[in-house]
Amino acid sequence: MNKKAEKVSVLGAGSWGSMVAMLLYENGYNVSMWSIDPKQVKELNTKHTNEQYMKGYKYPKDLMTYNKMNDSVKGSDDIFVIVPAQYTRSTAKELNKCLKKDNLKPNIIDASKGIEKGTYDTMYQVLEQEIDPDHRKSLSILSGPTQAESVAIKDMTLVTVSSKSQKAAEHFQKMLMAPFFRVYTNNDVVGTEFGGALKNIIAIGAGALASLGYKDNATAALMTRGLAEIERLGKAFGANPLTFTGLSGLGDLIVTAGSKNSRNWRAGYQLGQGKKPKDIVANMGQVVEGAATVKAAHDLAKKKHIDMPITNAIYDVWYGNANIKDEIKKLMERPARPEFY
Ligand SMILES: NC(=O)c1ccc[n+]([C@@H]2O[C@H](COP(=O)([O-])OP(=O)(O)OC[C@H]3O[C@@H](n4cnc5c(N)ncnc54)[C@H](O)[C@@H]3O)[C@@H](O)[C@H]2O)c1
Repeated sequence: MNKKAEKVSVLGAGSWGSMVAMLLYENGYNVSMWSIDPKQVKELNTKHTNEQYMKGYKYPKDLMTYNKMNDSVKGSDDIFVIVPAQYTRSTAKELNKCLKKDNLKPNIIDASKGIEKGTYDTMYQVLEQEIDPDHRKSLSILSGPTQAESVAIKDMTLVTVSSKSQKAAEHFQKMLMAPFFRVYTNNDVVGTEFGGALKNIIAIGAGALASLGYKDNATAALMTRGLAEIERLGKAFGANPLTFTGLSGLGDLIVTAGSKNSRNWRAGYQLGQGKKPKDIVANMGQVVEGAATVKAAHDLAKKKHIDMPITNAIYDVWYGNANIKDEIKKLMERPARPEFY
C-alpha cells in the first residue's frame, strides 16, 4: 500500500492522542483525529492549538479533528484508540457502530493505560469485547515510557507494541518508527498492560513522598518494591515476569514515578500536601489514571490474594481518608521478610 494513501484515525485528541497523531502525520500518513468535545474540535480546526492538553503546541492546518466519530473513521486502515481508560468502552462501542456502517476491518491499537472500574478489564479486553471480530484485524497495545510533552520536542523515545499477532505488532512498529522514536514489539499483552496501568499508582506514591520531604533513597525503594508488587499481580494474571523489566514496566515506571512532569506524580504531591482527592482531580484538568487504577489493583489483589502493601496503602489514603504518614510508618514496620517471595 502506498504509505501516503494509508488512512489513520486517532480517537482521542488529548495530550497523548494528539502527539501520536502528529507522529503519524509526520511519518506521512493521512491522519485525522476524533474528539468528543466540540469546543476542542473547534479550537484544533480553527486555531490549530489544544491549550488544555498541549499548552503552546501548534498543529498543522491540514490535520483535521472531527466531532462525529464516523467522519474520522470512514475509510480508515488503522485506528488508534487513545482516550482515558474509563471512556474506552463507550468509545469502542461507538467505533464498532462506525466500522459496521461502512463495513470496515482496520488494524486497531489502544494506547490508553488503565484498568476499567467495575469490570477490572484491561483496554485490550474492552476492545476485544466491544469490537466485532468481523470488523477488525488483530488488536494491539502501545505502551512504554512516553510523556506527550517530551514527544512534542522529539526527545529520544522508545516504546513497545504488544500483540498476540506478531504481524500486527510489526505493522504498527513500522508505522510509528521515526528518527527520534524507536519501536519494539512483544507478545505479552497482559504484562504490557499491567505495567503501563499500575505504574501510575506508584507515581502517586512518589509524588506524595517528595512532598513530605523524602529523598532519592525513598523514591528508589518505592519504585523497586512497587515494581515487585506490580509483577506479583501481573504474574497471577498470566503475565511474563520479564515484561516488567522492559519498556512498559521498569521504563514506564521510571518516567512516571521519577518525573514532576507526570500528572500522577503531581496528583500524589498534592495528596502529600493534604489536598482532597476530589479537589486534586478537579484541578488537574487532565486525566489522572492512577486514581481509578489504584482501586482496580486493590480489588484484584484482594480477589487473587496477592500481597500489594504499597498499592493498598495508597488506596487507603486516596479512598479511605487514611493518614499518609501513618501508612508510611505501617509499611516500614511490616514484619521482616526475604526480598523475593
Ligand atoms: N499524556 C501522556 O503523556 C500519555 C502517554 C502515554 C499514554 N497515555 C495514556 O493515554 C490515555 C489518554 O491520555 P491523555 O494524556 O491523552 O489524556 P488527556 O487528559 O490529555 O485527554 C483526554 C481526552 O479525552 C477526551 N474525553 C473526555 N471525556 C471523554 C469521553 N467521555 N469519551 C471520549 N473522550 C473523552 C478529552 O476531550 C480529551 O481529548 C490515558 O490512558 C493515558 O494514561 C498518556
